[in-house]
Amino acid sequence: MTTRPPVSDWATDWDHLDRQWNENPYPIWDQLRKTCPIAHTNRFMGAYLPTRYEDVKAIAHDTEHFSSRRVVLREMRPENPAPSPPITSDPPYHKRAKQILLPPFTSDAVKKLEPKARATCNELIDRFIGETKVDAAQAYSRHIPVRIIAFMLGVPESDSALFIEWIHQILEVGITDETAVMTAVREMTEYFAGHVERERRDGGDNLIADLLAVREEGEPLSQDHLLGTLRLLLIAGIDTTWSAIGASLWHLAKTPADRHRLVAQPALMPFAIEEFLRAYAPVTMAREVVKETSVGGCPVKPGNMLLLSFPAANRDPAMFPDADKVMIDRKENRHAAFGLGIHRCVGSNLARMEMTVAIEEFLKRIPDFHLDLSQEVAWSEGTVRGPRRLPLILG
Ligand code: HEM
Repeated sequence: MTTRPPVSDWATDWDHLDRQWNENPYPIWDQLRKTCPIAHTNRFMGAYLPTRYEDVKAIAHDTEHFSSRRVVLREMRPENPAPSPPITSDPPYHKRAKQILLPPFTSDAVKKLEPKARATCNELIDRFIGETKVDAAQAYSRHIPVRIIAFMLGVPESDSALFIEWIHQILEVGITDETAVMTAVREMTEYFAGHVERERRDGGDNLIADLLAVREEGEPLSQDHLLGTLRLLLIAGIDTTWSAIGASLWHLAKTPADRHRLVAQPALMPFAIEEFLRAYAPVTMAREVVKETSVGGCPVKPGNMLLLSFPAANRDPAMFPDADKVMIDRKENRHAAFGLGIHRCVGSNLARMEMTVAIEEFLKRIPDFHLDLSQEVAWSEGTVRGPRRLPLILG
């Protein structure tokens, strides 16, 4: 974790890289919601932090004042950030860039991937089933989404470690180190350029081939668009779901009553998955303020960024009764974990399937497990929050 000056006041000097936020951000947001629902910091060259559901929703729907040109809050703002359509696109371009991506992520398309996900989970469990201890983040949750997205893209699953390192450089190290982002983006671009070339030559049945077949008024996608979208799919498809699976296992390890209940009543699984997504939502995006406006009665000024905390919105008691309680049978649950508005997640069906399969297979084979309190759980910092070390005692 980075060493930084401690936060002096969360309302006027907040920092999502602060140790306190990293370990447990929920009380910070609860306090801000009551005292200063649109907080500001001069760090990151100036940024706002809304914490109420209604404000996050209003901002996510307002593409006139808030641009997606930059979607990660960093200490520096390079003039021309590398575009990754559709996540970095604004209207009107965004619509078409998104439509192109929808077919491979429909629920029917995702169902076909389920047997592969189950086989992957069991293969991973086979490796540690006889052990008494396991780091479930490193040995289990990190491998599931990376293998599935590599398979969909038609790139070698054996390159997984490379993908995970690039994402770590872009989403974590790169918040404070511009060179790390530039290097990782360049390496990813070169990597995909090689695979695009191979697909052009050999033509396979995968997502790269699908994108190569797209025509816009008779023209193929530009190389920049294609490579930007491929980078996005890799980044969006891995850390997010890895984090969501890890946080769900973390909850079940420290809450035996919920674990026993899920084993005894598997029909609760869909509700439990939605509740884990709400309570431990992993993804926090950013927006750039491009026109002066106000949010929740507070003026916001261009030149600032804004941290769009879907996780904070999901803990707002005005939207979710007992918001800080994790209730695996919560019925009314219109959470914002997958975003709100035009940029809502393309991969939500895939993410839900991977989470469900990962938890089901783990519980089937290892119904008893708890946290190994002799070691610490380590959480990632920045844009995507999830356990990166999850020491468990099995059985
Ligand atoms: C639990 C796992 C996941 C969570 C919590 C999540 C969350 C999100 C959120 C909050 C957004 C909105 C971004 C914004 O408003 O700026 C988003 C967008 C997106 N996600 Fe996911 N995501 C997950 C998994 C995935 C997967 C598996 C994929 C695909 C491989 C994916 C692909 C995308 C894409 C392409 C976008 C951009 C959509 C657009 O800009 O219109 N995500 N995701």
